[in-house]
Amino acid sequence: MRILVLHGPNLNLLGKREPEIYGSVTLEDIDRRLAALAGELGVQVVSFQSNHEGELVQKVQEAMGAYQAILINPGAYTHTSVALRDAIAATGIPVVEVHLSNIYRREEFRHHSFISGVAVGQISGFGAESYLLGLRAAVSAAGAAGK
Ligand code: DQA
Repeated sequence: MRILVLHGPNLNLLGKREPEIYGSVTLEDIDRRLAALAGELGVQVVSFQSNHEGELVQKVQEAMGAYQAILINPGAYTHTSVALRDAIAATGIPVVEVHLSNIYRREEFRHHSFISGVAVGQISGFGAESYLLGLRAAVSAAGAAGK
């Protein structure tokens, strides 16, 4: 089973970026932890980060036939991107949406996600652990979709 991990804009700055909100964990740490968990679960993960909406849309499209689930932290595109939502809806691949911070405890404009309506579910507020919980959810969703 192959799971695509997509990290959206500004997540490359984790560790340096607003540590009071996102903590000191870096994206490399998160990818390392995901790879370790993937090994335990017997699945493959491939991670990709982009600051560009179109590149993320492209990756979602290319996942068709190549990945059984997508784990995505869309960053700020969560709250703005109809294009990313449409790409996810078009592929039909099970998607799990994750956020480091609890977006519902933050500014009003972060309370709406364009992605959650086409995702299997959303995990928000557990820091790096959101990704690990998300990977378990993605594996389970991919298994269910394969039946
Ligand atoms: C985020 C939450 C978003 O509102 C924000 O724009 C991000 C990170 C999170 O992981 O908590 O870039 O997706």
